[in-house]
Amino acid sequence: MMLLWYIAGALIALLALRSLWPRLLLSRAKHPSLAGHARLARRLARLIPHYEYDETRFFSADDAPAELAAARRAGFMQLAQLYAQRFAKGAALTREVAHSVSDLQFTARYRVPFQFSRIVRQYLQAGAFLESSSGVTVADVDGNQLFDLSGSYGVNLFGYDFYKECIERGAERVRELGPVLGAYHPLLADNVRRLREISGLDEVSFHMSGTEAVMQAVRLARYHTRRPYLVRFCGAYHGWWGDVQPGVGNPLPADATYTLKDMDAASLRVLRTRRDIACVLVNPVQSMHPNASAPADSGLIDSGRSARFDRAAYAAWLGQLRAVCSERGIILIFDEVFVGFRLAPRGAQQYFGVRADLVTYGKSLGGGLPVGVVCGRRDLMKRYDEQHPADVCFARGTFNSHPYVMGAMHEFLTRLESEPIRALYRDLDAVWERRAAELNKRLQAAQLPVQVAHLSSIWTFNYLEPSRYNWMFQYYLRAQGLSLSWIGTGRLIFSLNYSDADFASVADRVVAAAEAMRRDGWWWQGTALTDKAIRRRVLRELLQAWWTTSSIGSTSSPRNRCSGARQ
Ligand SMILES: Cc1ncc(COP(=O)(O)O)c(C=O)c1O
Repeated sequence: MMLLWYIAGALIALLALRSLWPRLLLSRAKHPSLAGHARLARRLARLIPHYEYDETRFFSADDAPAELAAARRAGFMQLAQLYAQRFAKGAALTREVAHSVSDLQFTARYRVPFQFSRIVRQYLQAGAFLESSSGVTVADVDGNQLFDLSGSYGVNLFGYDFYKECIERGAERVRELGPVLGAYHPLLADNVRRLREISGLDEVSFHMSGTEAVMQAVRLARYHTRRPYLVRFCGAYHGWWGDVQPGVGNPLPADATYTLKDMDAASLRVLRTRRDIACVLVNPVQSMHPNASAPADSGLIDSGRSARFDRAAYAAWLGQLRAVCSERGIILIFDEVFVGFRLAPRGAQQYFGVRADLVTYGKSLGGGLPVGVVCGRRDLMKRYDEQHPADVCFARGTFNSHPYVMGAMHEFLTRLESEPIRALYRDLDAVWERRAAELNKRLQAAQLPVQVAHLSSIWTFNYLEPSRYNWMFQYYLRAQGLSLSWIGTGRLIFSLNYSDADFASVADRVVAAAEAMRRDGWWWQGTALTDKAIRRRVLRELLQAWWTTSSIGSTSSPRNRCSGARQ
């Protein structure tokens, strides 16, 4: 009898273990950071109270001595004066529209850590308006010529003039048809042929943005595998659709998304053991900063940013993913919306030597116009079931295959095969490696606490010594005539038409900006100043602010007022 009880007990324990085991594997494959714990991150984000520094604290958030704070203030006011003179018209126009353009309000607010944001917005307005572009430069409404390091979110790969020509020439080719939708312009056929060659895949579908291309790729994977879950890697961006943005930024939980550790064997174990995974989404730009979100300056509370690219290690990781996906019938999706044509003419598949089942493209491929594309294996691209006519995988979009987009894309793809463009790809990595090494050498020789890391023409600044003020660097760079996107020094995107002379000029300006930043005292090193101490200090401030707001019961914002209803 006793033996029977033992056997029954052992069986129950075994069953419990069997159902607990996958959960345990899953939790081991989560990155320990908040980026790896989407729900917790969202909950915490709602608790973080707003507080900000006054003009005294602004200059001594790291407890720098009073004379240094005064030097910083003087440098800041001088910079503010320069901005006020140089960007007057742009700043005025921006102020005029800011209260009616929600995107502008958002990007202006999140350029720097929120404690500093109001004062920065008050004094350092460069404006959001540009009037023209030429070569590797853009001109703002005040007539300033700036080197473009924003890359238009990655669209600008071959220089703005190239895209202007694609748009103009493309428009000429489709003018007779005009904006007729539903039917195709004949140029589409050639685009499809070239995209099949580039991707090495059978079929193509056209969408209006990268986000939509990713949505469709995931939807197809779910449809064909009959499994619900998508796997994305910690920190990876795949557009702003809910399922690929499970953490902060999305008001709803993404219930069919697993966020796993990038480049980690624990994640392979999850893929190898679970039966509910439809697809794995990979964004190859993450190879620069696996498991960390895109390095925006609003997150620069200390010098913890540490980007580094290791091509061989990432290629090996993709190879492992490929193997486990094939073994388990999981669809491997490369999201090449950003890196697409930037690393090699045939994209990340060619660059890393690994084939995907579905690939998404966008940005540059539209020849300067909005686009998203999915390329895939024939069996996966099919949107209906031959045997069950009512079982379809729906995807449309009013503007899909818009003739003008097809025209500009056709120009882009045609020119991609031309000799001058092919020449840009030759030695591509060597060129950008040499340029990064040269700049780093100069920064090091000048003993400046900043270095660049890069994935080909995608760059980021790393900061070498603890500081609360690294985000100020973007404003010194702008003063030197360098135009960055709203995420600041986290991501610089060069177009491939930068000549060595253009680059030398950019490098001079980067060094000059860093020297000015140091001269004005922002990179002061106190003996007690470590990244850990900075983080601890900010945490203390947050707790204090939270305590204050919760004890006085803040009712000032509609968000706070509504919070009861949102629970
Ligand atoms: C890898 C990746 N996927 C998807 C997207 C979304 O593309 P879009 O902004 O065109 O919707 C982006 C945009 O930055 C991206 O970088």
